[in-house]
Formats: sequence, C-alpha cells, structure tokens
Amino acid sequence: MKKDIIIDCDPGQDDAIALMLAFAALDKINILGITTVAGNVQLKMTQRNARLICEKLGVYDISVFSGCEKPLFRNLVTAEEYHGENGLNGIDIFEPKIPLQDKNAIQFIIEELKKAESESISIIGIGPLTNIAMVLLQEPHLKKKIKEIIIMGGSYFEGGNVTAAAEFNFYVDPHAVQIVIDSDIPVTIFGLDATHQARVSKKIRHEIDDLPETVATDILKVSIDYFASAYKEIYGQSEPPIHDVLTIAYLIEPGLFEGRKCNVSIETTSELTMGASVVDYWNLTNKKKNVNWIDKVNSEGFFELLLNRIATLKEN
Ligand code: BDR
Ligand code: CA
Repeated sequence: MKKDIIIDCDPGQDDAIALMLAFAALDKINILGITTVAGNVQLKMTQRNARLICEKLGVYDISVFSGCEKPLFRNLVTAEEYHGENGLNGIDIFEPKIPLQDKNAIQFIIEELKKAESESISIIGIGPLTNIAMVLLQEPHLKKKIKEIIIMGGSYFEGGNVTAAAEFNFYVDPHAVQIVIDSDIPVTIFGLDATHQARVSKKIRHEIDDLPETVATDILKVSIDYFASAYKEIYGQSEPPIHDVLTIAYLIEPGLFEGRKCNVSIETTSELTMGASVVDYWNLTNKKKNVNWIDKVNSEGFFELLLNRIATLKEN
C-alpha cells in the first residue's frame, strides 16, 4: 500500500531535489500536499519555489500551501549563503502558473488529519518545524492520526553547520523541534550525523552527467553544483551533502538506513548552544527514547536510488 505523506519544506536547493525524488516515487508514496515554511529564505520565496519545482516537472495535481512566516518565538534566520538569495539560485526563476492554495498550511494539515484513519499519515519535515508544531499545538488530539514524522535536522557527533553547536533547521526554530519530539509520535531524525555520510563525490557527479538530459537532471546538476560551491566557500570541501533528500529515500527504501532509539532534547535557552540537539546516544540518562536517530547510511545505495529514480522523470 502506498504511504500517504505531507512534505513540509523550505526550498532550498536540497529541498528541491527531495521534492523531485518524491515525484519520482509515486508508485510508493501518495503526496497529499506540499506545505511550505520560512527557513532557507522568506516564506514568499519558499512557497513560490515549491510551486516552481512542481511546474517545471509537470506536476499539476499536488497542491502547495504556505504556512508560518516566522519561527514560534525567535526571529527568522535564513540561509542564502547555501541556497542563493532566491533560494534556488542557478535555476531559472519565474512566477509559476500553479496557484498557491488559499488555505493555510496548518489548516490543510489539520483537515487532512481529521479525515484520516489512525496512524496513517507520514509527515516529512525538511525545513524548520514551525508548521508541524503549530498543528500539534492547535489540535493535539490529532497526533493519533500521524503514523510518523521524518525530519531532517539536528546534529550530534558532526557539530553544527550554522553555529558551532547547531544545525540550521533546528537552530531556526528550536522550540518547534522540542514540541514535535515530545509529542509521543514516532519520530525519525536525519541529522548531519546521517547526511554527512552521503556526499556527492566526484564519481557520483560524473554519473549524474551521464544521465539523460531532462528538466529533472538539469535541476539536479544545478542544485548540486550550487551547493558544492557553497560548501567549498564555507568549509573548503567540494563534496556536498544533500541533506533533505535522505528523508524521501528513507520512505522509498528504509533498509538503506540504520538508526538508534535515543532520547533527544533541544537547547532552547542558551544563546551559545541554541538549537543544539543533545542526543543521549549511550543512554546515560534513562530518559524516554523519543527519537530514532539515524546513524548509518548506505551512501552507495542511496545515490543509486536517487539517480535511477530521477532519471525516470520525464521532461516537461
Ligand atoms: C538543512 O538546512 C537547510 O539549509 C537545508 O535545506 C536543510 O534542510 C541542512 O542543515
Ligand atoms: Ca530544507
């Protein structure tokens, strides 16, 4: 049976690749909608970018909604240095014909959950978790309808990527993360500990060049190259991770990944370590194991899946 999913995102170069992989996996997943949040860039651009990717790929039957334009309590921090000032620099940007839905993203998720059977919808959070936390705050009883929440965010052994201590998505809205992981809903997290295991090596980049030329493979190349130049500039590394994409690969082929059940807590007070995900990896506290923390990635299998699937997307 296909998995019913909602993708909550902030495109974003790697979000765009994640969306394309999802569009290439419609034999396995049923996308109920795409919800957008402020994160990598302002909301007006993340919602436009999500519609733009849909339109470029000829995906007209999946609706796009916009949600929160800022985090629950903190000011918005954006990540233009990784994604460009419009969030998808390198890709030809235009105002898509696909409309933004009038309904707010939070209302959309609530209505979908109300209609759904128990434990039937998977929510994929690949931006700051503000929208998802808002749903849980507004309608806490609906959590029983959520099968799982699969998140890209956080870091433990790999350190931070926005501050020394914190990963970007968790840093932007740490309070939202704490609400989501305290919800008792099964949560799987792909932090930097996982995503840094799947970097686009020179070999993979050459394999991408060998794929048929389509709109999708063009976006894949442009996004990866933009990310690669940012990683070179910021970290002196030329083999970038493509963080968000792992969450969608997990939906398609969970066997590519291994995780460990751990207690995870988020720093929400100290400015020094704001947004840090504190993972009790060795179970020292005996606190509730609220997260499946992904710590092993079959990188070769992941890229094989990604390239094979993206190659199936037809040109618009
Ligand atoms: C995360 O932050 C964003 O910049 C990316 O899209 C990804 O979701 C990586 O830290
Ligand atoms: Ca993202």
